[in-house]
Formats: sequence, C-alpha cells, structure tokens
Amino acid sequence: MLEKYTVNPSVNISGSICVPGDKSISHRSLILLSISNGIGVISGLLESDDCMATLKIFKMLGVTITKNINNTYTVHGKGLNGLKKTNNDLDCGNSGTSMRLLAGLLAGQKFNSSLVGDESLFKRPMERISSPLKMMGANITLSKNNTAPILIKPVKKISGIDYKMKIDSAQIKSSIILASLYSSEETNIYENMPTRDHTENMINFLGGNIIKSENIITINPKNKLVSKDIDIPGDISSAMFIIVGCLISKESEVLIKNVGLNKLRTGGIQILKMMGASIKIINKKTYGPEIVGDIVVKSSLLEGIDIPDKYIASAIDEFPILFIAAANASGKTLLKNAKELRFKESDRLLTMSNGLSECNIRNRLTEDGIEIEGGNFTGGTIDSYGDHRIAMSFAIAGLISKKPITILNTKNVSTSFPGFYNLIKDMGLNIERGNV
Ligand code: S3P
Repeated sequence: MLEKYTVNPSVNISGSICVPGDKSISHRSLILLSISNGIGVISGLLESDDCMATLKIFKMLGVTITKNINNTYTVHGKGLNGLKKTNNDLDCGNSGTSMRLLAGLLAGQKFNSSLVGDESLFKRPMERISSPLKMMGANITLSKNNTAPILIKPVKKISGIDYKMKIDSAQIKSSIILASLYSSEETNIYENMPTRDHTENMINFLGGNIIKSENIITINPKNKLVSKDIDIPGDISSAMFIIVGCLISKESEVLIKNVGLNKLRTGGIQILKMMGASIKIINKKTYGPEIVGDIVVKSSLLEGIDIPDKYIASAIDEFPILFIAAANASGKTLLKNAKELRFKESDRLLTMSNGLSECNIRNRLTEDGIEIEGGNFTGGTIDSYGDHRIAMSFAIAGLISKKPITILNTKNVSTSFPGFYNLIKDMGLNIERGNV
C-alpha cells in the first residue's frame, strides 16, 4: 500500500518552531565517532530512516551505540582499526550519503563488506566514488551498470592521491577523505566549486589534520581521532520547506530556531533573497565546528531570477522547494548547469517539471536545468516517485493551490524529515495522510 498526502487550500502557516537535526552532520557524527578513540555523546541526531541506516550499520560493525533517556546517543568509538567484519550485507536503505561515504571508509578495512540499498539507491551512479577509490588502491566492485551492490575487499595499502573533482559533490569528496584516513600518505582534492565541508570540519574537531586553502583540501595522515561530544543543529534543508511555505503564504511570519548556517549550505537562502524574500538571521553563533542561528521569515512577493551558478552546489538539495517559490514568483526563473539534479533520489528536474505541469505551472525542461514561469497552482495529483523532497515541496505548494493537491508515494518523507506531517499541520497547512 502506498502512502499519500492530500493538501487542501489553507490560509497560511505560522509559528515559532525547530526542525530536526541536520542529516549530513548526523551521518558524519555517527561515522566519525565510531572510528574515534573514546566515548562521544551526540545531541540532536536526526532520527530519520537514512541516519538510522548508518547507525544500524555501525552496530553491525561492532560499535556500541546507545540511546539515552534525554534522546542523546552515546557512541563507544572503536578507533580507526577497531571495526569488526560482518557476513551480512550492510543495508543503506534510501541513503546515498551512507553508501558513498561508507564505501570510502570500508575501503580501508581489513575485511570484506557489501553495501546494498533500496530500489532507488540501486539505480544511483556509484562509479563516481569507485573511480577515485580505485586510484587509491581500493578493491571495489560495482554491478555491470556501475551501481550497487558495492563489494569491497581488503588491500595491503591505501595510497594518497591528487584528485581533481569531476563533479561538485560532497559525497564523493567525503568518500575520498574517509579512505585517506587509512593512508600514510597525503591526499589532495581540488574542488571546482566548494561543496559542504562538514566532513572536514568534524575530522578537525576530533583532532584530525585537514587543511583547506583556496580550492585545495589536503588530508594529512593522522593515526587517531579523539571522541568529543557533538551537538547537531537543525537542518537548513528541512527548514527551507517552512521558509518557502511562509514566504508564499499571506500575512505570515515564522521563526525557525537553531538552524545550521554553514555557508556551503545556504545557497538557497541567497537565491530566495535575490528573489525578494524577507529572511533575517538572528542569534548567529559558532556551535562546535559549525555556525548556527535563528531564521525569521515574513510573507514576501517574489520575483523570478536567473539563478547564479555560484549558488548551485550550496543549494543542491533545495531546488525542488525553490521551484515552488519560482512558480509563485512574478516572471520567469531560470536554472542552468544543474544536471546533478537528475541523479538524486529521483530525477528532480523531470519529477518537478511533471508535477508543475500537472498543476498548470508553465515550465520548460532542459538537459541541465529548467525555466519556470510564475502562475497559479490549480491542483492535481503528483507522483513523488518516492523522493522525500518532491513530496514535501508539493505539500507546501498546496498552501497556494486553488484546488487540492494529492501527492502519491510519500512514505520516504521520513528519510530526512520525520515529523514533517505533524509539524506542518500544526503550523496551519490543511493536510491529510492516507493510503492509496
Ligand atoms: C550530501 C551531499 C549532497 C546532497 C545529499 C547529502 C552529503 O549529495 O545532495 O543530500 O551529506 O554529503 P552530492 O554529493 O551527490 O551532491
């Protein structure tokens, strides 16, 4: 049975809220504390399906991770070489981050491992990580379509490499960084466009030695990481659904507290500001290795823009909801050079274009982008193709739709934003959940 949402015309959304913990930082905290020496407590861990897949994998690899009564998690680190072999497949579910980061980490272990996932993850490209990992000496095999399952065997030596990124991707970068923790040689990664640097920040926070200058990331050998407690801020990518919901609502104001504001994650905010959004950051402070703050948003009249290439990498997960903002703006919004969106949990250019067309929003799909003309949502039935961000984007579009929007295949919302349904309903969205 498939889960669905039906959203009926609503007045607006408002309130003072928090969003769940950052998905990228949650994965990294579980991974890095598992291979550190000592005990670390994680506060604010995102308890989503994706992060729970990572947590379960480390338990299978012999790491003790316990949930405490105050909802924090304690990770008993095993050190860089303390993980244990399992004969079972390591199931990453829907999570590309788990699969790609763990492939790098497992390349340096002294045992075989096999990474698998769900139907969507089995279709996603993996050659992008196996190629640099093989350059480092890893023994890694993909399916004949260059997808999962990923089989990894131990090797005598992981070598340092000089690697120029071919795709702007934090997952590829992080996979290389995690493998390089098992090398006694230096690795240099050259980025064209900087991508989220949570892996680098957290490794340095735990005593590692990664130096970043201009577009070069140098990972210096270090024989151990030392556990520390990690506080995870709210996920800006989840906050963006609330932000756009407020912007397109009438007479609305929302405060979102304690959101991660790493500058390599806030391209979506910059894009919305260019479109005329009223978004203010208050109470900004550093929080462990990251920056956090509170976000104040007010309903705004948005204008279409040409989205600058420089914001693409730092807004990569936000495009589905940014397209809803564009559909509500006056004039046209143009996105180019964003072909990567075709390789996410769904082909996000295609699924968004189909959904917008279904709601009578004019758009023109290109190979690497989309042009969207502002208009009026007339309602309709949208297939999210099991992509959490597509499902949540069209739920938010329901705020301004003249007729109901039904969204099919919404179960995967829990991969990144458990509690989305209850939160958005409490904020005023007229949403119902059901089965097809
Ligand atoms: C992520 C990196 C991005 C992003 C994903 C999370 C990460 O993927 O889309 O949701 O945590 O490193 P790419 O590296 O494929 O751009």
